[in-house]
Amino acid sequence: MRRIGILTGGGDCPGLNAVIRGVVESCAAAGIEVYGFFEGWRGAIEDEGQALTPGDVEGIQTLGGTILGSSRTNVMKIPDGPARVKSAMEKHGLEGLVAIGGDDTLGVANKLRQMGMNMIGVPKTIDNDLSCTDYTFGFDTAANVAMSEIDRLHTTAAAHSRCFVVECMGRHTGWIALQAGLAANAHLVLIPEFPKSFREIYDFVRGRYVRGERYTLIAVAEGFEFLDETGEDLGVDAFGNPMLNSREVAHNLAARLENAIRKDETLERKRAYFESRFVVLGHLQRGGAPSVFDRVLGARLGVKAGQLAAAGQYGNMVALRGTEIVTADLDLAVTLRKKVDREFYEAASLFFH
Ligand code: F6P
Repeated sequence: MRRIGILTGGGDCPGLNAVIRGVVESCAAAGIEVYGFFEGWRGAIEDEGQALTPGDVEGIQTLGGTILGSSRTNVMKIPDGPARVKSAMEKHGLEGLVAIGGDDTLGVANKLRQMGMNMIGVPKTIDNDLSCTDYTFGFDTAANVAMSEIDRLHTTAAAHSRCFVVECMGRHTGWIALQAGLAANAHLVLIPEFPKSFREIYDFVRGRYVRGERYTLIAVAEGFEFLDETGEDLGVDAFGNPMLNSREVAHNLAARLENAIRKDETLERKRAYFESRFVVLGHLQRGGAPSVFDRVLGARLGVKAGQLAAAGQYGNMVALRGTEIVTADLDLAVTLRKKVDREFYEAASLFFH
């Protein structure tokens, strides 16, 4: 009996279970057994996992998270990491492995592929910043969560005439902040791809205040940095990604704006009452049930990955291009980041006033 492995690595993401089910179902249809490693590359290194049958995965596409668990373990940072993955695969008789993850997890899959192991990548991240695919699953759910929360903030911001700064996930790119902000009528969206100085942001908020607008709502991606200012260095994770959790971009911006307006002597006395607040959406964006888009995209990507394995076509990534599920270049996908382009940001900027 042919057998393949599967794992989910990196930050969890709504839609992972749909992919797992898609892989298991399409493999079962081709007479291939699937073995799931627990908690990403950690399970492959430590040889922990379980066989997955269609019965085990029935209906799991409705659930967020991942039934296999996830971790940010980097095989390349563990002594003999690649050899241990290889030996776990051999022990279970796995001819190949479906790795579901973002640039870090797929970067490891790509390195193992270069070392001769059979890999198939499935692109995953709520950040939507992987290239070679039009969308990554998980992004739609996360952006919808962010949109709903920003929607809700309008009334409380208006009631108290406050300035709100809402921080969305996105350490390298601003896909969630931009799409959620645009959809939920944020007055300004700040993303890493298009840095602005504090002065520019201040002038924007001050302009609204002077015009008599009751409140201002700003969506900011966690990786945003002010032009001409270097963000605090908080170290990096096992994959070299900056640790942003405590950088508190929204907190800082909200505090600076309140301070600056209150101290601005060119404004009337009422400025002393100006208040700002911040909200960090954080992991709320990653939790909960996937949207219909993410369930269906995940399922289709999983089915395609299983079909590639059945055909013995290893070494690629599955991807969404237009409405089609296609194979894409794994090497390119992990080396090129998909950023918000100028045309999109400028179009969205027409709504910022
Ligand atoms: O998976 C991507 C992501 O959600 C980023 O948007 C965020 O910066 C990071 O993961 C948070 O990671 P962790 O869950 O390890 O704090």
